Amino acid sequence: MKIKYIVQAFAVLAAIAFATVGILQKPDAVSETSKAPQQTAAVSSQKGEKTPSIQKKKALVVYFSYTGNTRILAEQIRQNVGGDIFELQPATPYSTDYATVEKQGKQEVESGYKPPLKAKVENLASYDVIFVGTPIWWYTIAPPVATFLAESDLAGKTIIPFCTHGGYGAGHNLEDIKKLAPKAQVLDELVLRGNSKYEQKDIFAWLSKVGFGE
Ligand SMILES: Cc1cc2nc3c(=O)[nH]c(=O)nc-3n(C[C@H](O)[C@H](O)[C@H](O)COP(=O)(O)O)c2cc1C
Repeated sequence: MKIKYIVQAFAVLAAIAFATVGILQKPDAVSETSKAPQQTAAVSSQKGEKTPSIQKKKALVVYFSYTGNTRILAEQIRQNVGGDIFELQPATPYSTDYATVEKQGKQEVESGYKPPLKAKVENLASYDVIFVGTPIWWYTIAPPVATFLAESDLAGKTIIPFCTHGGYGAGHNLEDIKKLAPKAQVLDELVLRGNSKYEQKDIFAWLSKVGFGE
């Protein structure tokens, strides 16, 4: 009987001891887990810092457009990010006959031809962020955009590409942009089917992804 009481007393004492250790350990456990959210907060604040820092930089929207779809998108982007806008034009304008341009475009893309441009961007050096817009021509950037990328000093610049296409997608244009601007940082591209009106939500979602969120 006596032994039973002693065993019970030990059991009660052990339970109290475990509970006490448990309570004492809890702050540590809490502080361990509280480290995790702190780390996440640090990462997200770094990410958060990216938005204002890139937004503060001077932006230029450069684009080429043959039938107007990319121009409309370029103007909508410019309205949202501010900065300046520049339309690339070949020194010799493309024919107004679509079928002729389709054929010519194919030859130019396949041969890697870079048509001379009518005018160059003034003070390109003063822009840190360059939005580069192109229609997709034969699965890649249109030749005047290739000329711009090849002839410009884009080292250290941030390029944010956007393109419009006729239903076959962006092809390999992003890879080609990176090849022509190897010293620039090229961010995610906005790819939209050519249109006369684009959804603001598509533009906003992409802009915030590339650091121009609200
Ligand atoms: C020469 C030429 C080649 C084209 N190649 C493609 C292509 O490979 N894939 C595609 O989806 N659309 C292609 N298109 C359609 C255009 O990409 C699409 O209509 C685009 O929105 C036109 O933009 P823009 O109005 O700014 O010129 C081509 C159009 C032209 C004129």
